[in-house]
Amino acid sequence: MKRRPLVVANWKMNKTVPESVDFVQEFLQFLGREPKAEVALSPSFTALVPVGDALEGSPVALAAQNMHWEDSGAFTGEISPIQLRDIGCRFVLIGHSERRQYFGESDGEVSRKISAALREGLVPILCIGETLGERDYGKTFEVIERQVCGGTEGVALESGSEIVLAYEPIWAIGTGKTATPEEAQEVHRFVRGLTASVSGAEVSEAIRILYGGSVNPENMTAIMEMADVDGVLVGGASLVPDSFAQIVRSASH
Ligand code: PGA
Repeated sequence: MKRRPLVVANWKMNKTVPESVDFVQEFLQFLGREPKAEVALSPSFTALVPVGDALEGSPVALAAQNMHWEDSGAFTGEISPIQLRDIGCRFVLIGHSERRQYFGESDGEVSRKISAALREGLVPILCIGETLGERDYGKTFEVIERQVCGGTEGVALESGSEIVLAYEPIWAIGTGKTATPEEAQEVHRFVRGLTASVSGAEVSEAIRILYGGSVNPENMTAIMEMADVDGVLVGGASLVPDSFAQIVRSASH
């Protein structure tokens, strides 16, 4: 099955509003009119609206880095799926390892967020990945299975309901150390198998599974050659317009 490549920038807690808008203007020039891959930018919450405005009329989608699972209410400091949809977000990252690690996000919270995103018509990007210790102890598949199954518990994935998975080994995030293409493929294949057993072959074949962790223009091509790698989630290298545009171009081959 042919899945359209998806390339998502995760800016994390970087860039002011003017810096974000400048990026968009430069990036769109590098990108050209009709990129073959689907592209999304996840700026900080403060820059979502201006970045959305700057992307108007372009093929690039808007993504948020996190959200709450309730639609509204007394949750000081949180942002709801309705608010994200209201400003034109298409995607939302859920359960990024930094959220799990520094903010204690559990699989239970992740699954509530996934359900809420789907309910409100956002495409959740469920992030999963093992630590170096877990990999060294041979626990990678166990951890991945717990995160995929726990993170989608109670979520009915029918054909047509869109969800994206992102495999990001924690030891590869921001470290300059990537998984080899074969290591990535091994986990991606396992994830596809898991989704097939939970939701059936048709749904599983349609789901895009991204790789993330020190992706850059140099290592991009080899990673994208793997059969079950359908795109990338990019942190550091997505902060620079021409390097991110190069990554998008490599995804299209
Ligand atoms: P990195 O971050 O590309 O800087 O390793 C990836 C991520 O955390 O999504």
